[in-house]
Amino acid sequence: MTDSFKSSIFPDDSDGEWWKKTTVYHIYPRSFFDTNGDGIGDIPGVIEKLDYLKDLGYETIWISPFTESPQRDFGYDISDYFSISPQYGDMALFEKLVQEVHRRKMKLVFDLVLNHTSNEHAWFKESASSRDNPKADWYIWKDGKGRNGMKPPNNWRAMAGNKAWTYYPERKQFNYTAFLPFQPDLNYHNPEVKQAMFDVVRFWLKKGVDGFRLDIISAIYEDAELRSNPPSFRLTPSDKSLSIFFQNLKNNFLHEKSFEFATELRSVVDEFDNPRRVLIGESHGDEALINQFCYHNGKNGLNAIFLFKAISTPFKAENYRQMLLTFEEHFPEPLIPTLVFANHDRTRIISRLGGSVAKAKLLALFQFTCRGIPFTYFGDEIGIPRVRIPLKQGKDAIAIQHNWVPQFLVDKSAEILNRDECRTPMLWNEKPNAGFCADSVEPWLPIAENFKEINVDKQMADSDSLFNFYKKVIHLRNETPALHAGSLEIAHDLCNKKILAYDRIFGGKRFSVVLNMSRYAHKNPINHSRILLSTHLQSDAHQLQPFEGRVTMLD
Ligand code: GLC
Repeated sequence: MTDSFKSSIFPDDSDGEWWKKTTVYHIYPRSFFDTNGDGIGDIPGVIEKLDYLKDLGYETIWISPFTESPQRDFGYDISDYFSISPQYGDMALFEKLVQEVHRRKMKLVFDLVLNHTSNEHAWFKESASSRDNPKADWYIWKDGKGRNGMKPPNNWRAMAGNKAWTYYPERKQFNYTAFLPFQPDLNYHNPEVKQAMFDVVRFWLKKGVDGFRLDIISAIYEDAELRSNPPSFRLTPSDKSLSIFFQNLKNNFLHEKSFEFATELRSVVDEFDNPRRVLIGESHGDEALINQFCYHNGKNGLNAIFLFKAISTPFKAENYRQMLLTFEEHFPEPLIPTLVFANHDRTRIISRLGGSVAKAKLLALFQFTCRGIPFTYFGDEIGIPRVRIPLKQGKDAIAIQHNWVPQFLVDKSAEILNRDECRTPMLWNEKPNAGFCADSVEPWLPIAENFKEINVDKQMADSDSLFNFYKKVIHLRNETPALHAGSLEIAHDLCNKKILAYDRIFGGKRFSVVLNMSRYAHKNPINHSRILLSTHLQSDAHQLQPFEGRVTMLD
């Protein structure tokens, strides 16, 4: 990169490992803000709302994919890595977004789908056309089994619940997909594929993105011999285990070579070292295993990996203490945990917490005062709820695939099957369509019914709102080195069934965080009056109210 290009897009590049101190706001662009009246959010909509995010205190934004795509998985099925989908804007608008982000001294993380393309990508069309074209080996193809070769090559299941193999008559072969059948996996055993994708990485780094969120990086490699998976007792997915549908997905997920790949990718990204760029991976699995994405065989890999355990851990003091212990054990300095409580695939936070704003504030206090990188999914700062949308009306490809599941079962489940339910538009104000799009336009997904009570404008004006608590805790974190860069010590002696307590320490200063995670008042275990922040507007020095959390400066 030339120096003049660099200085035009990076205002300040002296912040080293900035991602360790940052806060991330995740934008699902389709649902954020529509400026051109088509009921779909767009890049100018993101630009228009940057000041909103800056004012809240966020530094980094991660935007779900907006490159060219047939949109069957709303951008996670890419048909061209080098152009912007016209639904969202064009390259000039993207470049403007980069500049506007950097002008505010913020960072932009791009969502990169390396694992698969759309089946409408030109590479795939060529690859699928015959067995001997130049891209024949760019995807994963294999002859079927059985007398007429019509049985899948092995027992692999895809993460989304479907079979992992699809038959293509043109090649008389099966094609492998780790996710949905229209998202064929690239074959990373082929060096040409790896180089082509590294060029994609370089292309966007040259455009000025500050790093990548790497979509299902856990699936990037699979067993070269395509051996079947061993059986397991587990049917349903979990955030901890890789077993699902009665098999252990060990041959198609978290393959040893995926960790090696992370180190190779890191060296590509390190070509762009001023400022340094970040790599954050998406993977399920045990923390003791997935930390290898960050450090493997003596080499650095990704800078961070999502820890989805936080989503499924019950909101109870002892469970959270155990979670912290696990994160600290497997991601000690210089590694850093991530603090992820929601995203565009999972139930909305407030709905998981039974609609309790008090619990949502306490969760935010935890998220922004722990050691780790906090990620907020858009709208969780105001408590957008899960919007019930019948499975049969689902636009989400997972909902379409599972539309045979009886609705009463879906309704009973705490976790969503129709991901539309967590992707409904942002609630900006109490105008029709909650200010997401013009009154006369139909938004691509319904607006949450309670938008007159829950919206940005209203919460900005209410000093006791969830929004204003997010703002306070993020600003406190930003201004307090111990909270964004300090070490963490769990105060085990203060912890009990109701109380979680830990200290953050930096430069001789110690801050205590105490959370009363119960619906009963509790004696305040910290005998100190320098309370910097409480989840409650009024706090009593001696007593914690139900679901009250506090940050206190100790010395
Ligand atoms: C990731 C994304 C999800 C997408 C899938 C396939 O899990 O978060 O939205 O559907 O990968 O790309």
